[in-house]
Amino acid sequence: MKDLREKGCLSFRFGADYYPEHWPRERWATDAKMMAELRFNTVRLAEFAWSRIEPAEGEFDFSWLDEALETLSKHGIKAILGTPTAAPPPWLIRAHPDILQVDGEGRRRAEGTRKNYCALNPNYVEHSKRIVEKLVLHYRDNPNVIGWQIDNEFDVNLCYCENSVRGFRDWLKEKYGSLNRLNSACGLVFWGQEYKSWDEVFPPRPPFDMQNPALCLEWRRFSSDAWVNYQRLQVEIIRRHAPHHLITHNFMGLYKELDYFKLARDLDVVSFDYYPKWSSKVDYAASAMAHDLMRSLKKKPYWIMELQSGAVKTHLAPAPKPGEIRLWTVQSVARGADGVLYFRWRSCRFGAEEYWHGILDHDGVPRRRFSEVKRVSEELSKIIPDLENTFFDAKTGIILVYDNLWAWDLEVGYGGKNYYGMGAWEPILDVYRVLYNRNIPVDFVDPLSEDLNRYRVLFAPSLMLLNDRLGDALRSYVKGGGVVVATPRTGAKDWNNNIVDKPLPGGVSDVLGVRVEEYTGLPEGETYDAAFLEGKIFFKARNWAEKLEVEDAEVMAEYSSGMYAGKPAVTMKRFGKGVAIYIGTFASAEFYDELVNRLLEKSIVKEVLPGVRGVEATRRKGDGKETLFLLNHGEEDVEVNLGGSVFRDLVSGERLSGPVKIKRLDFKAVAPG
Ligand code: GLA
Repeated sequence: MKDLREKGCLSFRFGADYYPEHWPRERWATDAKMMAELRFNTVRLAEFAWSRIEPAEGEFDFSWLDEALETLSKHGIKAILGTPTAAPPPWLIRAHPDILQVDGEGRRRAEGTRKNYCALNPNYVEHSKRIVEKLVLHYRDNPNVIGWQIDNEFDVNLCYCENSVRGFRDWLKEKYGSLNRLNSACGLVFWGQEYKSWDEVFPPRPPFDMQNPALCLEWRRFSSDAWVNYQRLQVEIIRRHAPHHLITHNFMGLYKELDYFKLARDLDVVSFDYYPKWSSKVDYAASAMAHDLMRSLKKKPYWIMELQSGAVKTHLAPAPKPGEIRLWTVQSVARGADGVLYFRWRSCRFGAEEYWHGILDHDGVPRRRFSEVKRVSEELSKIIPDLENTFFDAKTGIILVYDNLWAWDLEVGYGGKNYYGMGAWEPILDVYRVLYNRNIPVDFVDPLSEDLNRYRVLFAPSLMLLNDRLGDALRSYVKGGGVVVATPRTGAKDWNNNIVDKPLPGGVSDVLGVRVEEYTGLPEGETYDAAFLEGKIFFKARNWAEKLEVEDAEVMAEYSSGMYAGKPAVTMKRFGKGVAIYIGTFASAEFYDELVNRLLEKSIVKEVLPGVRGVEATRRKGDGKETLFLLNHGEEDVEVNLGGSVFRDLVSGERLSGPVKIKRLDFKAVAPG
């Protein structure tokens, strides 16, 4: 929480996304009063309000926003303002229809909605800079404004307008210098696609299974960079005029089309829009993984800028069960968030999101969701003092490279389905699920910019793209005593997304001490049996199996059925002071469970509370303080053994030790002593 205080804020931010422009002015004071009842200290305002702030080009009206800020401030509520660029006003589209994105078929995107503009359009860029500057100059000295959210949930809709095409050509020119280098780096000789002039270069269009994978990857990189740069233009203006203000953007968790490590770099704080419940079953491992990723982008506390507080607008969407909103709130704090704002304060009566429910229903009457937020706000007020300057500490890392996720998604067979039968997150989720179930704290790690040595073990799921830098980083990490766990396709491609001309695992074969002699896909329903040699623990090999030849590694597990029966499926090599494990298949959970047992025995991984299962357990630590969170997302009560030490329940004040019951959809936050 220190970072936020440095920026002149209170430490914990709690509140909602509020749209005063959707409601009569007479209601605003009531809203502010009701918010105060929930102990709110923060709202996010105005991220789609460009047309209200600038109703016609050059005519500005800040009066309504000034008044809303003033009304809220009477109850101690401050604001994060959205730069309103996610929704270009109709007059701007009329004046410059070219700001709208163009799809792969050459069609312009529709007006009448949001997020339909091209980040590379010079007209849009100019108007964006202008509105951001106007807003910052107007609000930089307003004590009720604490910071800015840039735009809203950047989303890479690949755009094929003339600015994008030109931009892509320039980007390639800058990177490759000559067409010969581009042609050869991307293998454009295949199907006779070599370019002779820069004017011939076009971004690949869907369907991508018929396009050049190397050029497709460059297109993805370019498109991601375009949004990082667009965000930077806005950040620079705010920093210039309001260096005391906090700058954030609301990220979408496991959204993968944008390089979130790069997007986070220019911001003070990462925010996450957390919507766990789209159907009746919440995937809590995937949800926790999204939180861990958001926290890991800057290795700093993050905020929840939008937390689901009612049913979402999708087919037969269930409303959150009593207790769920409360638990999602505490879960966010437990995984490292220092701010939680709910989406949205009140369900809107009109517009595309009339069924996207908020804390209040359409009629503005406080009901059970309001009471639930009130309850958790009281509880948080007792927990927060213990969380000041604490953070979530992980010694287990999962390597994440966005280029690799894109390359994975581009591995499509004819017909458009992924070649390995799994989306880019799945190899990661395979291991993450097991770590989550065992309550082992995990960070995501950018191996090209971070110090790997702070992790005892690094899982490196399917690092298909490998360059010398990445190979060297892994090599020296293991040499120095680290443990690396690698899975299929490691080192199979170079950084251009071309397959390497050496035996796999390519550039890290020396570290792993193994050679992939042959591989096969395993069609749906077909699995191979495999087992650890020691202990004969069985697991399944699915989707993909590699026949491994050991060079100077030990065999950990073998296939026991299928065409590779009797051949190694998993190997382990001692390299320098460390260990490198290679798994030649997408192994079922039994495999990772046993691997984790072995890592636990050697204290290479550590559970938050030994042996505790069936609850989500996390710890926040720092400044001589420590809080243990135990969350029961399930429908049954769970008993957790706290062991011999005595803990203080931060909410009830009770002293606890030994077995403790956590009721269904309930939590405990406890501190030693
Ligand atoms: C997103 C957006 C919000 C709103 C909600 C609900 O997260 O940021 O503006 O659209 O979803 O759809």
